[in-house]
Amino acid sequence: MATGLPRHVACVMDGNGRWAEQKRMPRTEGHRVGEGSVVDVIETSHACGVKWLTLYAFSTENWTRPEEEVEFLMRLVQGALRRHAPWLHLRGIRCRFLGGDDARIPPSLARDIADIVELTEHNTRMTLTVAFDHGGRDAIVRAARTLVRDGIAEDAVTEEALASRFQYPDTPDVDLVIRTSGEQRVSNFMLWQVAYAEWMFPQILWPDFRAEGYRACLEEYRRRNRRYGGLDRIDEMEMI
Ligand code: IPE
Ligand code: IPE
Ligand code: MG
Repeated sequence: MATGLPRHVACVMDGNGRWAEQKRMPRTEGHRVGEGSVVDVIETSHACGVKWLTLYAFSTENWTRPEEEVEFLMRLVQGALRRHAPWLHLRGIRCRFLGGDDARIPPSLARDIADIVELTEHNTRMTLTVAFDHGGRDAIVRAARTLVRDGIAEDAVTEEALASRFQYPDTPDVDLVIRTSGEQRVSNFMLWQVAYAEWMFPQILWPDFRAEGYRACLEEYRRRNRRYGGLDRIDEMEMI
């Protein structure tokens, strides 16, 4: 199937620590500068007409990092919410947080998250989902628990029944996943929703990704040929 603009783009924002280490700075400096790429990717998506953008900000495994780094990330996210909520709302961007409700999330951050979700919930121009305290396996387990809680009979357990029990069931499957920094792995990201996503692994660290790096990925996406297990148009024509 020919591809145009992806409906749903997801970014695994990786390489902040290495960016800082290369410059002999503390890893946290990479997270701080990475905020610039976050803003660029949101603004570019908004300008290009990407309707769904998901950013992987903190995984269920990231809790195992040193306490100071985890605390820094919590403070950074809280500061970012306060800095960016007004313009996100002004531009009609609906903000959501995809993830668990870990008791380790500081209560004041949890309140700020609830506030921005509520402030922007009726916006329709674009949906920005921040995967925060997210794990793909955790999300599947939670959906499965809901199936059981709903007393679903065995033969009614279908892909649709499970998919409808994820945290945001209205979110379309991911079309394009971009993982910066050159690492080529899933790291427990939206396992259910990436079943037929296109993947890109730019060799650039997240703080340097910025609008140019993102635009290049959107451009490359147009050249991809998605098949979904079937045959693409050219194959079909050659067979005739
Ligand atoms: C990604 O950058 C940000 C988070 C996981 C929060 P890293 O912190 O993983 O940076 P590297 O991979 O160590 O360079
Ligand atoms: C994945 O990156 C999580 C985020 C970008 C938030 P990691 O840096 O945590 O993943 P691994 O440990 O290299 O697989
Ligand atoms: Mg990393």
